[in-house]
Amino acid sequence: MPAGIVGIGSAVPGRILTNRDLEQMVETSDEWIRTRTGIRERRVVSPGETATELGLRAAQRALEVAGLEPEAVDLIIAATSTPDTVFPATAVRIQKELGARRAAGYDLSAACSGFVYALHQARYLVEAGAARHVLVVGVDLLSRITDWTDRSTCVLFGDGAGAVVVAPVAEGQGILASRLGADGEGGPHLYLDAPHARHTVGGRPEEPLPFIRMNGQEIFKFAVRLVVEETQAVLDGLGLSVADLDLLVPHQANIRIIEAARERLGLAPEQVFTNLERYGNTSTASIPLALDEAWRAGRLKPGDLVVMVGFGGGLTWGTVAVRWSLEGRP
Ligand code: UT7
Repeated sequence: MPAGIVGIGSAVPGRILTNRDLEQMVETSDEWIRTRTGIRERRVVSPGETATELGLRAAQRALEVAGLEPEAVDLIIAATSTPDTVFPATAVRIQKELGARRAAGYDLSAACSGFVYALHQARYLVEAGAARHVLVVGVDLLSRITDWTDRSTCVLFGDGAGAVVVAPVAEGQGILASRLGADGEGGPHLYLDAPHARHTVGGRPEEPLPFIRMNGQEIFKFAVRLVVEETQAVLDGLGLSVADLDLLVPHQANIRIIEAARERLGLAPEQVFTNLERYGNTSTASIPLALDEAWRAGRLKPGDLVVMVGFGGGLTWGTVAVRWSLEGRP
């Protein structure tokens, strides 16, 4: 039986950080940020807020839409680069808070492609009959790994979470195709050192905190090429064309990346969903957050073809094509 998305939800922190706020922190301007990235504001956690809490809220909404009790969940996969603890995994922390007593759980590390990687895994576990209800959570608190003195990166990122429930759906619906890729050669263009990587026997904890490091221009070129090639490839594999695509939901990194890819693919503006102007780049959360907003805004109805394309650190990328099966919000 095919696997599809039967529940979806998202959550963002309450605190809004505007471009004007950033003007007070680094040498930048609202005008530069808007024209170079499309971002107007982003959400950031306050001290004490956790990735677990945000992921939990998104997960609870997804279960509510699916009409499922937490006990129905077999597995939780949390894609994150910013866990509250390395172990227990974020997925297991969410399992406890959710009361999903029957569920196993693990975290998945694929940077901004994490949600799509996890969705691919969930698809095949459900299709194989190894699990019936898989909760896939994408949560990142990029504000915790951003260098707030570096204007070339700090204007880009935000915090958020999104979740879906993957379960069996009727023939012809659900996930039609999914593809993953990686190229470790590009790793140095976008990376985050692990906090303990340089610790040695007898050493003292005096290393500075690690932050995201990025070669923006290299990632920009990679991202445009990737979104174009992978969207085309997933459609080709299904014997479909861009005219059949109802909604492209790309990773929300930069409006110029999305616009360049849209033009090269020959897609109309209404075939592409963006919400990065309000959230910035939320890494693994960006696709489920956008998908959830698109659905709640009535941009997705049963039978629609939606393609999600993630890309990011690794370098990694992933594409999922879905024949949407969730009814609209009542
Ligand atoms: O999740 C995936 C990860 N990331 C991405 O997808 C990001 C991909 N890259 C990008 O989105 C873009 O490369 C950026 C938005 C990061 C940068 O835009 P850009 O058009 O590539 O700008 P640039 O790096 O070429 O910088 C242009 C100028 C430079 O000044 P000079 O050398 O021309 O005098 C920068 O120093 O803009 C300057 N600049 C800024 N000015 C004001 C860089 N950051 C800022 C800033 N405010 N925040």
